[in-house]
Amino acid sequence: MTRDVRPFVAGNWKMNGLSGSLVEIEALRRAADAGEAGVAELVVCPPATLLAQAAWKIKGGKLGLGAQDCHPEASGAFTGDISAPMLKDAGAAYVIVGHSERRTLHHETDALVRAKAEAALRAGLTAIVCVGETRAERETGEAIAVVTRQLKGSLPPGGAPETVVVAYEPVWAIGTGLTPTAIDVAEMHGAIRALLDDIYGDSGAKIRILYGGSVKPANAKELLGIDNVDGALVGGASLQATDFLAIAAAYR
Ligand code: PGA
Repeated sequence: MTRDVRPFVAGNWKMNGLSGSLVEIEALRRAADAGEAGVAELVVCPPATLLAQAAWKIKGGKLGLGAQDCHPEASGAFTGDISAPMLKDAGAAYVIVGHSERRTLHHETDALVRAKAEAALRAGLTAIVCVGETRAERETGEAIAVVTRQLKGSLPPGGAPETVVVAYEPVWAIGTGLTPTAIDVAEMHGAIRALLDDIYGDSGAKIRILYGGSVKPANAKELLGIDNVDGALVGGASLQATDFLAIAAAYR
């Protein structure tokens, strides 16, 4: 945890969820409104097809709504893409950019991720900027250098604690059940904090740094208790409201 920073717990549904899954969002809203996420800001990022319906379900409540990607342009001839103003219009307040699945499967570069983050800020969305090293990079001792390079290339200029959240997600920990040691997480998050201070000055101290990669109810308390870990980005365990809430309960 970081002092004077409100923790942030976001669920990334990835390409999962049909309209029947809106019951999970209703359950999350009820729990958020009842204070079951404790002090944490609770956010769900369903697929784009569910955003508008989800926005109705959460209206007036304490659950936040995010998208999983956006195009850097506001509009134009980009078949199949969705822009940040469109996400905002559909009811999202947050958008994930630079998730490792997009960096790998869609060949997204740091420059593209930064352009997406800038587009998010222009549209009035908070950008959740993801970074993380591969297993090979961790094993060769390059993890911090890789994440530093990704952040320098991906973070939007002029970011602030209200508009930028960083998610450190080691690629090898995503969906594998593996997690780094608490010492490795503390070292990485400390390095990210120092870099945020360099890039953003005073406001860098208050930018939330999430850990992501196989966060589960069973390991949440330990991971979320590490210095400079200000929340979690949760994939698989966010699909069921009960698991996701059990993770957020670390902040009760
Ligand atoms: P996981 O995914 O929690 O299923 O490991 C995390 C993520 O990709 O954001």
